[in-house]
Amino acid sequence: MASFSSPCLSKQQWFVLFIITFFSLVSRKRCYKSIISFGDSLADTGNLVILLQPNVSPSALPPYGETYFNRPTGRFSDGRLVIDFFAQKFGLPLVPPYFGACNGSNQQFLKGVNFAVAGATALDNAFLAQKGIFNRVTNVSLGVQVGLFKKLLPSLCLGNSLILMGEIGGNDFNYAFFQGIKIEVIRGLVPDVLNVISSAILELIKLGAVTFLVPGNLPIGCQPIYLTSFQTSNLQDYDRSGCLIWLNKFSEYYNGMLKQELNQIRRLHPRANIVYADYYQAAVQFYRSPSQFGFNSTLIACCGGGGPYNYNFSVGCASAGSKSCDDPSSYVSWDGIHLTERAYSLISKAILDGSRTVPRVKIPSAASD
Ligand SMILES: *[C@@H]1O[C@H](CO)[C@@H](O)[C@H](O)[C@H]1NC(C)=O
Ligand SMILES: *[C@@H]1O[C@H](CO)[C@@H](O)[C@H](O)[C@H]1NC(C)=O
Ligand SMILES: *[C@@H]1O[C@H](CO)[C@@H](O)[C@H](O)[C@H]1NC(C)=O
Ligand SMILES: *[C@@H]1O[C@H](CO)[C@@H](O)[C@H](O)[C@H]1NC(C)=O
Repeated sequence: MASFSSPCLSKQQWFVLFIITFFSLVSRKRCYKSIISFGDSLADTGNLVILLQPNVSPSALPPYGETYFNRPTGRFSDGRLVIDFFAQKFGLPLVPPYFGACNGSNQQFLKGVNFAVAGATALDNAFLAQKGIFNRVTNVSLGVQVGLFKKLLPSLCLGNSLILMGEIGGNDFNYAFFQGIKIEVIRGLVPDVLNVISSAILELIKLGAVTFLVPGNLPIGCQPIYLTSFQTSNLQDYDRSGCLIWLNKFSEYYNGMLKQELNQIRRLHPRANIVYADYYQAAVQFYRSPSQFGFNSTLIACCGGGGPYNYNFSVGCASAGSKSCDDPSSYVSWDGIHLTERAYSLISKAILDGSRTVPRVKIPSAASD
């Protein structure tokens, strides 16, 4: 190792020092004592199901949950989500849904709490409505989630927690795309969405949070719901994987802006560990080389109401008339909007081993202590 008595380090020595400092910062907490999660259906472990009562969320019906839990749990998949794989890797209990608490005790949240609600947006419903975009699923936007968290705060220790911030923001764009808003207008929403995410992170840093994992958006142009809605006879709109190029370009644009936003927060708060989780790059590989990952079907949903991508807006997975595949593990898409447990498992691996994070860091886990 270089001698640190010399005040002048070579570029290479500085680099080594930087790397060591970086890794010691990231692994300062050898294992997380809890996971605190904000987001939407990609991370919802049961909130929407509770909030929607007496109305029934499809995720409360079979075949949702069939693979791992053998029953619907409110998760929008056949089994576990990325957040579940994280919890299991850290030796923590599966992160309980905040709205599942019925006795007002915070004790149950010492090892984690999940505010993510399927259908949630980053921006408040009122703000979106001004732009002609309507969220008819839930009003528990990111700001509301952070507000609920603050009420719970006294009982939680933030320094040892992994904050999973997202994925959130995807629905702001989903609602806009499916409600016929023009792409230019949707691109205009990106700074607003980033502003909300950034404010949430800054607020949590102020409250003592140190480590954040911030996932970006998935390749929406490969999702059956988008492939169905924006189907076209213009073959040039599709890439070699059969995904819609212009929609994936939107995801890339948004993710690029998100990464820049995170850079800015890092500059303001060099002691915070802010890790971008590249769900996009992790998932896009499935479409490019399906057989390498053991997928048979990438663009057709396992569970849905038929049509070329087994997706039909009026016949969703779990509703009368929908069909489900025999082997969800050979599919990327579970219900046309959400991924299968197998896909989420592969994404979580790519995030935890650092191959799909920015910066490239291995997220310390209980197992590696
Ligand atoms: C209340 O929460 C505590 C802590 O998780 C749990 O042990 C207890 O069973 C709960 N009581 C009821 C009535 O749900
Ligand atoms: C959200 O919706 C619920 C139920 O419709 C309502 O009780 C609540 O006041 C709303 N919250 C906000 C912040 O608008
Ligand atoms: C993929 O699916 C097709 C159609 O269901 C089936 O015929 C084929 O055997 C499957 N291939 C693999 C490798 O599972
Ligand atoms: C969706 O399902 C409905 C009801 O079965 C059917 O009438 C409609 O044609 C389907 N749409 C497409 C695009 O397949």
